Amino acid sequence: MYREREWVGEKSMNQNRTPLFDTVTDLIGTNPAYFKVPGHRLDRGISARWTDLVGTGIFAYDVTETPLTDDLHRPEGAISEAQRLLSALYGADQSFFLVNGSTCGNEAMILSAALEGEKIMVARNAHKSAMAGLILSGAEPVYVMPEVLGQWGIQGEITAAAVREGFERAPGCKALFLVSPSYYGICSDLEAIADICHAHDALLLVDEAHGGHVYFHDRLPTGALWAGADVCVQSMHKVTGALTQSAVLHIRNHGAGEAALRRIGQNLQLVQSTSPSYLLMVSLDCARYELAMNGTKMMERALRLAEYARKRIQGIAGFRCMERERTDSTRLVISARDIGLTGYALEQTLFEQYAVHMELADDENVLAIVTYANEMEDMDRLVRACEEIGARYAGQEAVRRADGHLCFPGLPQQVMTPRSAYFAQTKTVRWQEAAGAIAGQMIAPYPPGIPVIYPGERISREVWEYIEQFRLDKRHMHGADANGRLEWIKILPT
Ligand SMILES: Cc1ncc(COP(=O)(O)O)c(C=O)c1O
Repeated sequence: MYREREWVGEKSMNQNRTPLFDTVTDLIGTNPAYFKVPGHRLDRGISARWTDLVGTGIFAYDVTETPLTDDLHRPEGAISEAQRLLSALYGADQSFFLVNGSTCGNEAMILSAALEGEKIMVARNAHKSAMAGLILSGAEPVYVMPEVLGQWGIQGEITAAAVREGFERAPGCKALFLVSPSYYGICSDLEAIADICHAHDALLLVDEAHGGHVYFHDRLPTGALWAGADVCVQSMHKVTGALTQSAVLHIRNHGAGEAALRRIGQNLQLVQSTSPSYLLMVSLDCARYELAMNGTKMMERALRLAEYARKRIQGIAGFRCMERERTDSTRLVISARDIGLTGYALEQTLFEQYAVHMELADDENVLAIVTYANEMEDMDRLVRACEEIGARYAGQEAVRRADGHLCFPGLPQQVMTPRSAYFAQTKTVRWQEAAGAIAGQMIAPYPPGIPVIYPGERISREVWEYIEQFRLDKRHMHGADANGRLEWIKILPT
């Protein structure tokens, strides 16, 4: 229903254009005497150690605002046109280029949707940028828990029932913020959720950091904008060929929260650099062009590569590879626990012995992000490595798995908002003494960067033990001490 709804953007733009890329190319062609930033002067000042190896051409695109190249913070020319082309492609009313990743998009969405003291529903598996948005805005989060997929030991979708229950528990929430697809490719039923949000006059804000590509193939889940989201962000660098940090934010107004939607542009100015990188923005322009011209072919290729590997890996004794409805099947979630390997051990073996780099590991699985730019040879290397590992560990006893519902601790008690706790006087205590205290900081295993504890929450024994296990296993955690260990933690004095 939402997919067909009219949007106010221009539908018939010629996507066979790259206005920003062309404009910067033209600027370089004028051979300017350049007295602006950046100081390397269209490549001459970049270290020869680097340019001798990679050449210079690309660096010339690292320019700044000029009368030709427009201004991200007040676009009227090439950037404006490039953003309108993006809107037209995705069916958004308005789209913005982001140069600080989906991180700044999530911050601006939350900052715009719920003001200090207002309530906002937030999925508990949200990326830590949602917490930054809460700290900036001062809004009061009402958490909604995702399902747990016990068989895989990971968090699943946010159900429509959980959202309905959230609005009953906390009427007046201004918005719901959730992640779909998740890192593992799992999507929520966004159409049903959008209906619930709009019935409560609340905005649906979707962190679609991992889903900029799903719009381009019928065998991929429905994109958030087409499913009724009012705002979504996409890390175009994650899956669609743009450079690291480049992301976009789309708005599609369904009649809820118009004032909030109007605040987004202004708030993006707050959280984005005043020196936005033209390399990143040109990469967004070109990534949009490729998707418009070849998106379906690109996604067909990614799907074919992923499906090939999934099938082969499923056939290896001791290995499992996730297959699920409403899931982006270009994500390969692979488990070898049945032959005694945790996800962490499998990731390490693949990295150290086969130079196969997985995106992340958890206790149970490793995750591969397969894109159109992978080669069949990459897939064969992954498959062959799994075959060899499978043969080596055959017959080894399975790793005991925690009961699905014990994999993740329950919701801690929220004593104060993340913002109040963040700005409160804190004291530092030994981690070993922290159970029962109110956290003055977050702790998030990384990746995936989902906070287990937010500032202002009481560190329950259950949460403490969960984090303690990560600590004992020497896992990488954001919020740990400068030395990477978690020996100390900031808490609020009682
Ligand atoms: C679900 C999710 N949201 C947001 C982000 C932040 O995206 P970016 O790295 O583009 O800032 C990430 C990063 O991994 C993520 O996994």
